[in-house]
Amino acid sequence: PKALYGAERANSAGVELGSREAVAALQADLAAGARPVAATPLIGGRPAAGQARPVCAPADGTTVVGTVAEADEDGARAAMQAAAEGFRAWDRSDVARRAGALEKAADLLEQRRGLLLALLQAEAGKTIDDAVAELREAVDFCRYYAAQARRIFGAGEVMPGPTGEENRLLHRGRGVFVCISPWNFPLAIFLGQVAAALAAGNSVVAKPAEQTPLIAYEAVKILIEAGVPGSALQYVPGDGRIGAGLVAHPAVAGVAFTGSTETAWAINRALAARNGAIVPLIAETGGINAMIVDATALPEQVADDVVVSAFRSAGQRCSALRLLCVQDDVADKIVTMIKGAAQELKLGDPRDLSVQIGPVIDAEAKAGLEAHIAAMAGTAKIHLATPALDQGSFVGPHILEIGKVGDLTREVFGPVLHVVRWKAGGLDALLDAIAASGYGLTLGVHSRIDTTIETVAERMPAGNVYVNRNMIGAVVGTQPFGGTGLSGTGPKAGGPNYLKRFATEQVVAVNT
Ligand code: SER
Repeated sequence: PKALYGAERANSAGVELGSREAVAALQADLAAGARPVAATPLIGGRPAAGQARPVCAPADGTTVVGTVAEADEDGARAAMQAAAEGFRAWDRSDVARRAGALEKAADLLEQRRGLLLALLQAEAGKTIDDAVAELREAVDFCRYYAAQARRIFGAGEVMPGPTGEENRLLHRGRGVFVCISPWNFPLAIFLGQVAAALAAGNSVVAKPAEQTPLIAYEAVKILIEAGVPGSALQYVPGDGRIGAGLVAHPAVAGVAFTGSTETAWAINRALAARNGAIVPLIAETGGINAMIVDATALPEQVADDVVVSAFRSAGQRCSALRLLCVQDDVADKIVTMIKGAAQELKLGDPRDLSVQIGPVIDAEAKAGLEAHIAAMAGTAKIHLATPALDQGSFVGPHILEIGKVGDLTREVFGPVLHVVRWKAGGLDALLDAIAASGYGLTLGVHSRIDTTIETVAERMPAGNVYVNRNMIGAVVGTQPFGGTGLSGTGPKAGGPNYLKRFATEQVVAVNT
């Protein structure tokens, strides 16, 4: 592989969607790659029994994308047992073997893009831009963590000390890592967690989101084909009860979770209730992500960046913009521009490559968003309410103006932008109100005043601050991603400190 992520960056090339030839080749791969998937639990590298159910496309609610056999509690226990047995051999294997398997998996992901992109479209409702970006991110996670593993888990670091003594700091795996991933990045976040845990020498029990088990199954098969032993990687599809069982199992040595803050609290409580080893939780959760726009901002750029940040991926990114805070002198102009641009977005089945906004993940998500919009309608000013489509779980872009920052009290996970106005001289109070939510994931700033940019970045607890650009799509190795407070524990995914949290440290002091 090429030198990675040092001065020479080498993120996955992706697909040039502006090129007619590249898109034609992509369409041919999608047509050839799409096929129904029949996922089963994989325990010790072998298929295990489970209760089968169909997985349907959110774009129409009827197309069967494949079937998943879900594990029961016995299956979850068997997976933990298999992972406990597989840990030592994997942890003791040479780091070059572990890194090599991830690099091979990255190559296979690129080679199988037809199947994987078709699954992202059908199972997760991703537009082609989002699907391509997600596959790139998944590939990048594998290569980046492989490179980081070679750096961290080699011969160790010799520490300074007295003559006649050698002190070496080593990193090793913790044991069985339970990885619980979300449906909104069913390939990239699923693989990011699993690849990091494996790179660090842990054995893994991976539970994908209930809504998106099929692409995770294909990802696990690719890792095994690439050289990860079946004893080191178990795949356990199922609902939240299965996740709770994995977390409560005596063999658990670490948990990586991405999803809601409420579920992270529940996992934390379950881990705290156990006696025995104290087990770390790496949680990446949600946010009430704000963008602050002052009167010096460039309105056209703001409008572009708001539309991307709030509506791309149907707003189903943890990084997505939820609360646009715009100085009142420019608010009318900017809201009008955003509304105009949002009305142009094409909503529909993302298997049509010209579609820009796909469905939300399922009927429950749609109902929750509609209930929120209905509840706000009494007090908010509705600037835009795009009607839903007749079929599938669609919610179109909405723009709701609210009276004050504190009126938005929770993360609304969809294409619903809330707008609030602030007055010149009110920046400090605005920042206090935004920080008072307790979340700290992404934050946007549009301003041409340097001191405003500096004040905002310095004062706000956000993990990722984006200035004069959109606020989604963190790139592996470039914008390590993750928040603080209610938004997560850190360390940042796709950053140089991530793998160490999956590891234990040991110092060996030798009298020479
Ligand atoms: N990493 C994703 C992003 O930056 C998370 O939502 O958009």
